[in-house]
Amino acid sequence: DKSAFIFDLDGVIVDTAKYHYLAWKKLANGLGFEFTKEQNELFKGVSRKRCLEILLDIGNVDATQDQFDTWMVKKNEDYLSYIKDMDESEILPDVVQALDFLKDRQVPMAVGSASKNARPILEKVKLLSYFDAIVDGTDVTKAKPDPEVFLIASDRMGARPENCIVFEDAAAGIEAANVAGMTSIGMGNPENLPEADYNFRDFSEISEEFLKEITV
Ligand code: BG6
Ligand code: MG
Repeated sequence: DKSAFIFDLDGVIVDTAKYHYLAWKKLANGLGFEFTKEQNELFKGVSRKRCLEILLDIGNVDATQDQFDTWMVKKNEDYLSYIKDMDESEILPDVVQALDFLKDRQVPMAVGSASKNARPILEKVKLLSYFDAIVDGTDVTKAKPDPEVFLIASDRMGARPENCIVFEDAAAGIEAANVAGMTSIGMGNPENLPEADYNFRDFSEISEEFLKEITV
């Protein structure tokens, strides 16, 4: 049995978390309330629909179904406008080095993301070809912290969950990996991810020795 790696996309591979934040903030401000970076932590890894529900709770806004649907569309349009010209320069530090290292060692790799925009983003930053499987918001019925997205990814790679190693920047994603019985690696501020098996700020802190050691 061999190891396989699963990468979250937003906030792990690419620096899109800030654009999600800006789009939600714009919607909140338009509705007349503030939305802070601290509150945004709760949105990481969480589906678009669930994010809007939480946002409206924060703002104490009651929405009709029509308004809800309109705001979902609006948030995504704003988000898409922010990432329109995205390119390789938005890949987070040393991600490509880690992917190259694992690819050379022929370790299976997948993306496991809550986003419905995962594929176009991977295309824009030219990383699609690294991955044996891409599981995203269009594949799942249950969002993180449910482990579904990672279990589908392990299944598509033919790997056992206990041999999978997950890189995540979201508390919901760390929980999903832990529930799936996978090794969880928290990326970003360790204070936000106390449940992770390992914590790193970004891939520049992850050595090839570490990647070798956790690979079986
Ligand atoms: C996750 C992000 O990757 O995708 C969340 O961390 C986001 O913040 C979610 O809400 C859904 O993304 P999208 O692109 O389908 O709206
Ligand atoms: Mg993320």
